[in-house]
Amino acid sequence: MENELQSLEAEAKKSLSNLEDVKQLEEFRIQYLGRKGQFSTIMRSLGSVPAEDKPRLGQLANSVKSEIEKLFEEKSQNLHRQSAQASSGSGPDLTLPGRCPAPGTLHPITKVMQETCAIFESLGFSVAEGPDVEVDYYNFEALNIPAHHPARDMHDTFYVGDSVLLRTHTSPMQARVMESQDPPLRVIAPGKVYRCDSDITHTPMFHQVEGVLVDKGISFADLKGILTVFTQKMFDKDLALRFRPSFFPFTEPSAEVDIACVMCNGVGCRVCKKTGWLEILGSGMIDPEVFKKVGYDPDVYSGFAFGLGIERIAMLKYGIDDIRLFYENDQRFLSQF
Ligand code: DAH
Repeated sequence: MENELQSLEAEAKKSLSNLEDVKQLEEFRIQYLGRKGQFSTIMRSLGSVPAEDKPRLGQLANSVKSEIEKLFEEKSQNLHRQSAQASSGSGPDLTLPGRCPAPGTLHPITKVMQETCAIFESLGFSVAEGPDVEVDYYNFEALNIPAHHPARDMHDTFYVGDSVLLRTHTSPMQARVMESQDPPLRVIAPGKVYRCDSDITHTPMFHQVEGVLVDKGISFADLKGILTVFTQKMFDKDLALRFRPSFFPFTEPSAEVDIACVMCNGVGCRVCKKTGWLEILGSGMIDPEVFKKVGYDPDVYSGFAFGLGIERIAMLKYGIDDIRLFYENDQRFLSQF
């Protein structure tokens, strides 16, 4: 056994020094160090030597094997280096690791938009989409905002033609949906909207989701219920809501809705300007004038509508303080989502 080990050691060292390329290296590994290689065979035969010789022979076998493994490792590094150098002179270095293309991710606005739609769909709303290039009638007129109405001043409108414009909100979908469907209905309309405005909280294009629910006997309590469920699901906590009386020509009464500041939980911080509240949407009970324009009887039906800003929600959800970051296509920003 001892002789056998010594001659195996000598033989292995000799053939190691003769190895010339990576292929031979692998052949060597299989012949000597592999699971069925010569060292394994010798190790197995240790089982049949007399018990008093076992410790000494076992130790010897182990030390010979580790010596050969060490030499093999050195040789392996040398041969790989040589092969890399050889190939770098004559074409691409095939031993270099490949470059991994970064996998794409959904844009944060797309994510919040999809999440918003999923929450309302779980509450029984269906999704409708309408045109970005809208006519004056649906953007203003049908929503009880006639020409020369002061409410038109709230919108810095991009006009495309005489009475054709880029919609300034998703509310025109209220009129379009009600015109084409009979009540009861519950619909949301997600989409892009446009206003001539740009600073850290405004971009000329942004996203809104409009919601409309019409049925017999709908009250402000239903609006509160739906919006409470939405905000709790979106921000994953039991947030307080505050309805502030407001004015929109197409809803009466109208309210702007605030949530308890998601940063400080209502205590007051920089984000909520020490008020403890953050405004997230406009809403109200659909004005009878709007019902009349789409042919609904306001004495039979009532309903609510709301319009929420997706960028605003995404900023609060992800703690982003400049809306323009969403549209600069900076990989360092986008890859965080
Ligand atoms: N369209 C309004 C805006 O863009 C938001 C809004 C307010 C929508 C009240 C509504 C509503 O449906 O009822 O500022």
